[in-house]
Amino acid sequence: MIGVFDSGLGGLSVLDALVAALPNADFIYFADSANSPYGNKSEAFIQSRVLAIGDYLADSGCTMIVVACNTATVAAIQALRSRHTSIAIVGVEPGIKPAALSSVSRKIAVLATEATAKSDRLAHLITAHAQAVSVDIVACPGWATLVEQCDLNDSSLTKDAAARLLPLLESGVDRIVLGCTHYSFLTHILQPIIDTSDNNATLVDVSEAIARQAVRLHQDNGRGGGSIRLLTTDQPKRLIDALPLLGLDLLATRVHSVERVAV
Ligand code: DGL
Repeated sequence: MIGVFDSGLGGLSVLDALVAALPNADFIYFADSANSPYGNKSEAFIQSRVLAIGDYLADSGCTMIVVACNTATVAAIQALRSRHTSIAIVGVEPGIKPAALSSVSRKIAVLATEATAKSDRLAHLITAHAQAVSVDIVACPGWATLVEQCDLNDSSLTKDAAARLLPLLESGVDRIVLGCTHYSFLTHILQPIIDTSDNNATLVDVSEAIARQAVRLHQDNGRGGGSIRLLTTDQPKRLIDALPLLGLDLLATRVHSVERVAV
């Protein structure tokens, strides 16, 4: 059993890639929607949620936990790993390394929540992998909440995205890292803004790289029934109704239950 969790719906973008890569595995997806967004919360709060959810997933029999949330990963992956030494733990970190390696203009940007944007771990990633390029860190408050509401065509979001992206594109940035799993559901807004500029910038999304890492670490590949159990700390109906709104119709056909849990 593989446990996947996020503050809410964003990690479904990672779950989608995981299910494609491990079609026979059984998954639990845990959405902490009652506490979403994490991006404007303190590190101590995020850590306490990650540890509580990690304990719940471990007690539910998960042999692997995927922290499908950059904000939770930067705040608490070390603590989670120290607590569950016999479980494979995969985190999601902004794709600074692939962006820096592939950038031709030597200018990259990362879009992230406020908590990730100001984290030591992001600063460390940049020091470790992006010394030779310039990196713009752009916090995007409110974006994850709009995804939570499945408000994917909100006009203020389109305006806000253009205001953040156009100056980057004009300055020659050619790799824009999606440093929050919720933002994978906003590419239909971000890509057209990029297409209006002439520097051929690319969005960098690490979901498929995370799925490859999970395949490498997964011990019982081939076993299981390929089922998905959805858990949420908020309304189950909100979670199941979100799947088609986020374009995850295929994933929805694999879901065999959805429940509210108090964790
Ligand atoms: N999806 C999350 C991330 O990757 C967190 C968004 C939020 O809850 O603020 O950072």
